Amino acid sequence: GHQKTTTVLGQSYEVDPWTNVSPAILEKIGMNLHSQKYHPICLIRQRIQDFFYKRFTKRGNPIFSVFDNESPVVSLKQNFDNLLVPENHPSRNQADSYYLNSAYMLRAHCTAHQQDFIRAGLNSFLIVGDVYRRDTVDSSHYPVFHQLDGVRLFDKHDLFEERVSQPDALQLFDDTKHSALNQAGHAIEATLAVQHDLKSTLEDMATILFGKDIETQWVDAYFPFTHPSWELEIKYQDKWLEVLGCGVIQQQILNKSGAGSKVGWAFGMGLERLAMKLYDIPDIRLFWSKDQRFLDQFRVDDPHSNIQFKPFSIHPPCDIDLSFWIPEMFQENDFYDLVRSLGGNIVEKVELIDVYTYTKLKRTSHCYRITYRHPDRVMEKVEADAITKKIAAEASTKLNVKLR
Ligand code: PHE
Repeated sequence: GHQKTTTVLGQSYEVDPWTNVSPAILEKIGMNLHSQKYHPICLIRQRIQDFFYKRFTKRGNPIFSVFDNESPVVSLKQNFDNLLVPENHPSRNQADSYYLNSAYMLRAHCTAHQQDFIRAGLNSFLIVGDVYRRDTVDSSHYPVFHQLDGVRLFDKHDLFEERVSQPDALQLFDDTKHSALNQAGHAIEATLAVQHDLKSTLEDMATILFGKDIETQWVDAYFPFTHPSWELEIKYQDKWLEVLGCGVIQQQILNKSGAGSKVGWAFGMGLERLAMKLYDIPDIRLFWSKDQRFLDQFRVDDPHSNIQFKPFSIHPPCDIDLSFWIPEMFQENDFYDLVRSLGGNIVEKVELIDVYTYTKLKRTSHCYRITYRHPDRVMEKVEADAITKKIAAEASTKLNVKLR
């Protein structure tokens, strides 16, 4: 019979009873907000990336590699099995993740790529990308969001050299038993050194993002792929807010990936939640907005600029055009100022939409489109007309224009 398929990024996937991706979700693939210049998700990613580039260097060069272009389609093996996620873990449910079929899915976290990069021989890397989880849609939940994951591996030398005077006396591995504090087989001094490097790195990152007065706290957590594990919380407007998960990478993962002689840490965090706090963005759906009134607020060349998002009206605008003959010494800015002073914040924009020169009489006419928009209700046409009338009257007396 005819086999139905779903195509994602040029690749076809056979539909089967596991398939639950919807067209609305597939549409988001390839948008890559994390790589879109000036997008707030990209700005915050640049800040974090800069922090890692500067903090970890060797002979003046950054040692972290950044991967931001991995396909969000991963195998179930990458998303779950490689990371020791148990067979019965709730995140494997069809109700929680998006499946292309019983073998492939949209990654539910960037950690899905961790093992591949470790196997490729990398010791220090960040992974940035869009992740997909079935969820309700409201001001703080959306089924697509962005994550940044980080991994750092150490051999014995890397871990102890800078920290202690006799690194050779210390071990990464010994016969320590499993406990709440460490994995079976990890020497206590190794766990503690990894933990210290991890926590101090992430606390410093929080300071870079939120300023040196930010309060942080560590909370014990559980992830199948790390032990011990923690969540970092920051105090934001008097509430503790969870910003990331992290821990000491399960040795079993490193052993399977050709890095059995090393130990390491990993963390993963959602970027939307951070960006919402950092920039005061009230609704997660705004990240997908193509509205210039949203995007323009983030057009800064320095990603470390302070930006406080100013909400804009969701009510429909009302456009009114106004044409007049201009006098010889006409200054456009005088007209813009006049519109602003009479229209106030109800004027969203003023654009010169047409210039017409009547050569015989050596006269030039300008047509301006004034966009009115009320912050909390529909802008009525009669109201916009009334303001435009005042503008026209004042323009003819003060700026010497001749209305057409
Ligand atoms: N992948 C985890 C999540 O999405 C975060 C995490 C990454 C935790 C790496 C520990 C280590 O919540």
